[in-house]
Amino acid sequence: MVAATGGLTFHVGEDTITYSSDGASVSCEVGSDGGATAVRVSRQGWDDLVAQMSTFVGLLLRDELEFERGGFGQLADWEPVLRYLHAGIPPYDPSRADLQGRDPAASFAADTEDGELAAQLGTMGYLHVTGVFSREEMAEANREIDRLAELARPGDDQSWWVTTEDGTSAVCRLVYATLRSSLLASIESDPRVRRLGTLLDPTLDIAPDRMEGTAVLIKVPGRTSGLSNIPWHQDCGTGGHAIFCPAVAVGIQLTGSSAATGNLQVVPGSHGQALRYRWQERPDEVPVVSIDSQPGDVTVHIQDVMHASPRPTGAGHRRTMYVTHYPAALWDHIGPGEAFNDLVRNRTEEVADLRRPSSGPGQESTD
Ligand SMILES: [Fe+2]
Repeated sequence: MVAATGGLTFHVGEDTITYSSDGASVSCEVGSDGGATAVRVSRQGWDDLVAQMSTFVGLLLRDELEFERGGFGQLADWEPVLRYLHAGIPPYDPSRADLQGRDPAASFAADTEDGELAAQLGTMGYLHVTGVFSREEMAEANREIDRLAELARPGDDQSWWVTTEDGTSAVCRLVYATLRSSLLASIESDPRVRRLGTLLDPTLDIAPDRMEGTAVLIKVPGRTSGLSNIPWHQDCGTGGHAIFCPAVAVGIQLTGSSAATGNLQVVPGSHGQALRYRWQERPDEVPVVSIDSQPGDVTVHIQDVMHASPRPTGAGHRRTMYVTHYPAALWDHIGPGEAFNDLVRNRTEEVADLRRPSSGPGQESTD
């Protein structure tokens, strides 16, 4: 793809570097300004890019890209190549995804042994476990979420909102939910959650007081504007890969899920890899799994698996409580009350802009 796109030149301070490809190999020439696309980026922006702290989308949202030739589309074509060159993150290719003969649509009973669950999660990048919580436990949690949703107000820093078809506002996400509910906190710290969140790495830990803590997703039905229906993305789509991947999100299915109520869609085996920005142009052979679930089931996903949360086809109102388990590096970079976008942008008021409907892919989130 990049051979057709043409070369890419970066101007970083006084330095200039051009990447080019003949279709078989990529070359890099310091001092050359010969790229079909040329972009100026700050030294900090370049360092963030190389260190996998920011992506091109992240730099774009920070207004750090100044194009001299070409535009963002050409830059995005190069991103998987540069992530491989800079950090060894391979480009996703369905023909290389080794699913180990496993069924990507499989679900597992809660008493399945840890090794089997870990193998499925490590292979697919996600996992569906049935019957982890009882219907009664989910009903009790839903009553508590009803209470929190009733208290939520736009702009309270504790919730996300969308505009519905009839122009009214509706809450679509409660964040830091366990900081104001002892009942939800008890679920967050439940050994059943910890077991599933640490299947691959026992050192991962929950972060209730940062990265928006434990969040409750509420799928609003109909055509909404705002970040309720999130297009295909990786949770490190704007950046932060170096400090929070491979975080693991445990999704407690409070209502169960279906296409009608809203469900999670995933690309099996896509975690740990770089994906093209223009995902709608993906090859036909890319597999997609929609995870339907019952109340009390749990989904687990590695945050850089490619996933989406499409618009409900029917009644909507799927509720999922996401308890994310992070690598220790997170605590070195993100303080209490901070989220990744605060850090990279250092302009907190502009984080709100990221949440506008025009923000496109890559918004940091757990669904
Ligand atoms: Fe997500």
